[in-house]
Amino acid sequence: MRTGHSLLLGAALITVVACGNQPTAGSSTVAAAADSSAPAGASDEPSSGAPAAAAPRKDFIPLDYLQRIPIAYRVARDHPEVLEKIACYCPCELYGHTGVVDCYRSQHAAACATCLEEAVVAGQLIEQHGAHDPPAIAAQVNSRYRTAIVRNYTQNGQFPNLRSESGGAYLQACSACHQPPHPGMYSPDEWKRSLARMEAYSRQRDLEPDPAVWQRAVDYLRASAGQFTAPDRERYRESLASAVEHLKVTEGNAVYYPTAQDPTLDPAWFERMVRAYRLARDIPAEVLAATPLDDPSSDCSNLLDCLNSIAGVTSEAAVEAVEAIAAGDNND
Ligand code: HEC
Repeated sequence: MRTGHSLLLGAALITVVACGNQPTAGSSTVAAAADSSAPAGASDEPSSGAPAAAAPRKDFIPLDYLQRIPIAYRVARDHPEVLEKIACYCPCELYGHTGVVDCYRSQHAAACATCLEEAVVAGQLIEQHGAHDPPAIAAQVNSRYRTAIVRNYTQNGQFPNLRSESGGAYLQACSACHQPPHPGMYSPDEWKRSLARMEAYSRQRDLEPDPAVWQRAVDYLRASAGQFTAPDRERYRESLASAVEHLKVTEGNAVYYPTAQDPTLDPAWFERMVRAYRLARDIPAEVLAATPLDDPSSDCSNLLDCLNSIAGVTSEAAVEAVEAIAAGDNND
């Protein structure tokens, strides 16, 4: 396995947010695990008035999220030719991934709800229609995300003037390949350089937009970017840069900017992880909490801690520890 991590990456299909944000699993928030395990209210206070340690509590990553991980890695393993054509709408494409398949060359996808969802949806379409037309399947998945991006960004007033015609063109043109970035990231002059590259990519990938739409998107950037000051630009760039730092930790510096030669990870490992989570459901929280973990790739202090956070999804040490406890129980 490549570098483990304890980061919360990803976004659900509808809430299009940065990968560095907390993932959601279906309707339940995966990341809520840590928060909701906080000690409850006054009834837990000891009568002596001395502060009591919170009782260990299982608050595992939801099973529906976990189960999607091996399913999605299997789709990536079996159909890279489809996933390489699907843009990834976590911010990784802004920094060198060239299709959601790249998120499956490391543990990145396991902790990214957007990456998982895209592959799961692709897998469902492949089941229904077969995999003989990868571009058609990719177009359906991409269009689902683009529609969600346009709706959410507009509703949430994510950037200035998105309801204008040029704002709509901006979302449309830039979401062809990745999450549309904040227009305040660059000055109008700096945008010129960046946009020249984007146009070249569009030509390379045969994704040339309607020239009128592209022109309106460029007009939008010029007008909006001018509203921001140098410190604003600094802030927007820093926020994207910190998302990249998260990705580097997840993927390991060595595999950042993966290449098509890198294989996607073996789904069997993630199947084993889901089995370990099932076994852990029958192990008392106190036992899990009392099991120290020697896992340099995560900052979990014990096994319960690890299973309650996204770190459990990629921690070999945690999976092995659960298996050992379960095997011991069976031998009793
Ligand atoms: C045809 C695909 C494609 C389209 C369309 C596209 N981009 Fe990109 N964009 C990329 C790729 C690939 C990268 C990563 C590699 C790089 O930065 O050169 C990227 C990276 C970026 C980055 C991060 C790197 C930097 O320059 O700071 C920004 C910002 C960006 N794009 C803005 C835009 C905007 C704004 C639009 C719409 C007007 C747009 N892109 C449309 C493919 C595209």
